[in-house]
Amino acid sequence: MPPLNASFLIEQTQNRTSEPVLLEEPISIEALPTPALVLDRPALGRNIDKMAAFLGDHDKGFRPHAKTHKCPLISREQIAAGAVGVCVAKVGEAAALLSGGIEQILITSPVTTPLKAQCINLLAKQTSGLQIVVDSLAGLNVLQAHLDAEASLGILLDIDVAMGRTGSRDVDLLLTLAEQIVADPRMTFAGVQHYAGHVMHIEDFVERRNKSLALWETVTERLQILREHGYDAAIVTGGGTGTYNIDVDVAALTDVQVGSYILMDQEYRQIGSAENDQFLDFEVSLHVACSTISAPRQGTMTVDGGYKAFASDSVAPVTDDHAGVKFHFAGDEHGVLVLPKGEQALQLGQVVQFVAPHCDPTVNLHDYYWVKEADNMIHSLWPITARGCVW
Ligand SMILES: Cc1ncc(COP(=O)(O)O)c(C=O)c1O
Repeated sequence: MPPLNASFLIEQTQNRTSEPVLLEEPISIEALPTPALVLDRPALGRNIDKMAAFLGDHDKGFRPHAKTHKCPLISREQIAAGAVGVCVAKVGEAAALLSGGIEQILITSPVTTPLKAQCINLLAKQTSGLQIVVDSLAGLNVLQAHLDAEASLGILLDIDVAMGRTGSRDVDLLLTLAEQIVADPRMTFAGVQHYAGHVMHIEDFVERRNKSLALWETVTERLQILREHGYDAAIVTGGGTGTYNIDVDVAALTDVQVGSYILMDQEYRQIGSAENDQFLDFEVSLHVACSTISAPRQGTMTVDGGYKAFASDSVAPVTDDHAGVKFHFAGDEHGVLVLPKGEQALQLGQVVQFVAPHCDPTVNLHDYYWVKEADNMIHSLWPITARGCVW
């Protein structure tokens, strides 16, 4: 039995494959083993290019968040489109992405335990491009206690303004952290992060814009204080899909951590955009395909996807292909579709594609993307290498 230590954890994670599997013959959506995650590759490419072009036009860097897709193949496409690096939420995701060839990785959650710090030490010896946020002395000190002399780690201060999830609002603490980072030869003071997740889904665009910019003003004041003490933040990173075209107006911001835009989901489609009351700036490139398997009652159909196929933390899955059909969760393995009155629009054995309620946790339920090309056929499987890397 191997001991549970950092080497074991990293090795287990880095043994996973991240290479695509090409199908011998392309298959249709109808031939999928449902429930199956379908990735529309042309739409994915258009989303990547649109965001890269928008941020480029606004002189902002592009540091997409891989917590959304958990797939090194997708990160590679984002880097090819000009991303300065990628973000991950957790150490396990960093390990998986690194083994998939991604070298510039920012871990956007702090760590505080020896095991995680030991994992970071191992990863920091695999790449000079590893960065992590800190927001406490305990977190910084545990990293310092476990970093070897030859490891190099970029550190960003995580600044909280209003969300209250991670980050610090305490200016004295931020200054003390910066001082200790700069004094440590294994560390580089790389900059700051500010992420306001509670703002991303504010429905009204103007309200979202005003809130986000007001928070960034407070961050900018903190940056000024840091600068006055000799700590210049080369990277000022943050923002997300809901504020991608708002935060570019923040002069201090260097790059945007957009995640969900690449796949899109129903939660995001429901908010307003700069132009209208639906956020359609990016295409839905992710669907969960399910099959109808039973029709126990007039006016309903049961599909083979439930809580294990869709994240259920927010709204219900939605199908754009069958107007008026409503999805209700019916347990771990099933959903019940309520059909529009008087219509039996669906047959048994039919495949129905649903927009994910919330893309990140939906992806984390699946092993592969079934990749659909421009001919509407599935040509390959892309492993969701960091699936389950929630540590
Ligand atoms: C720190 C951080 N940055 C960026 C993102 C990406 O946000 P979005 O998926 O809204 O683009 C997230 C998502 O939760 C996040 O936690």
